[in-house]
Amino acid sequence: MDSCLVAVLWSLVPLYVTVCVIFAVFADADMTLLWASVAGQRPERKLKGLVVWVTGASSGIGEELSYQLAQCGARLILSSRRENELQRVKHRCLQSSNLQDEDILVLPLDLLERQSHAAKTEAVIKYFGQIDVLINNGGRSQRSLFLETNLEVYHALMELNFLGTRGSGSIMTVSSVVGLAGAPLATGYSASKHALQGFFNSLRTELTDYPNILISTVCPGPVQSKIVDNAFTEVLDKPVPTVGSQEYKMSTRRCVHLMLVGIVNGIQEMWIAQQPFLLFYYAWQYTPTLAWFLTNKLGKKRVQNFKAGLDADSAYFRKAS
Ligand SMILES: NC(=O)c1ccc[n+]([C@@H]2O[C@H](COP(=O)([O-])OP(=O)(O)OC[C@H]3O[C@@H](n4cnc5c(N)ncnc54)[C@H](OP(=O)(O)O)[C@@H]3O)[C@@H](O)[C@H]2O)c1
Repeated sequence: MDSCLVAVLWSLVPLYVTVCVIFAVFADADMTLLWASVAGQRPERKLKGLVVWVTGASSGIGEELSYQLAQCGARLILSSRRENELQRVKHRCLQSSNLQDEDILVLPLDLLERQSHAAKTEAVIKYFGQIDVLINNGGRSQRSLFLETNLEVYHALMELNFLGTRGSGSIMTVSSVVGLAGAPLATGYSASKHALQGFFNSLRTELTDYPNILISTVCPGPVQSKIVDNAFTEVLDKPVPTVGSQEYKMSTRRCVHLMLVGIVNGIQEMWIAQQPFLLFYYAWQYTPTLAWFLTNKLGKKRVQNFKAGLDADSAYFRKAS
């Protein structure tokens, strides 16, 4: 090789190392998404006037999505089970945007009642005439050990997170980091998210003749929301005993901003998480043996915390920090 080229390559090594260090410390999403957030299309330019259907709009990520979409000028369908909460979200959307009352349709919906979904979709088409983006966000997590968990809980997780989420059109699906890897206390939740990703990844490849349809999967790490409060435990309808601090989690606002950047820039898979979680995504992707070694070590601690009656995660991070 030309000695001049070798010298140039060597001179790039410090730059490469610097970029890696900065990424390891500060990144809160995969490189493509971060690049799009700096140099790509802006959500406020691309989403104005689009009709966007958000499921799980009454809380957490879906609630914040509703606010940011309203500020971008998107017309909205807000769905979840609790109509009063959806009305509250609609009210705040109207207060913080230029939308008019008729631009937001509150459409209560139980994702488990699949026989009602066709009629709900028809109601939306009748009202707005179209659906530009469907954001499959509604879902519940899990905090229980496999050996102690009823089969009914697994059934409910698959019904809600996987089967309750199928659809057609331009679709963004909120999966999770556990849709890529696995975590203790979340066997059923992780299975439902893996199923979701398998389904939509395959559907995407079937729809390559329709380049205007975007099938986009979001894999967030821990994000501030009510997800732990609402998680399934070992039996149906038993609440989570300990809900810890959310301080160590990513802000909902930042996560949702990145999701909207991803939609308008046509990104098909998004990894969104603060460090050190983001490094695990890369480890699982590129060095699975190392990743499983570390995951098993951390998982052991998580199970110990859970058995001791502590919040599995925040107890760990308090101790670690
Ligand atoms: N927060 C995180 O750390 C995190 C990380 C990775 C992935 N996620 C995913 O992000 C999505 C949103 O969760 P979140 O964190 O925002 O949690 P959240 O605050 O608990 O919100 C969950 C939403 O889902 C709705 N929902 C639950 N069961 C439903 C049902 N049967 N039918 C219709 N809607 C239902 C809830 O509304 P109602 O109670 O009114 O029905 C609520 O609006 C979920 O898919 C979750 O798996 C979250």
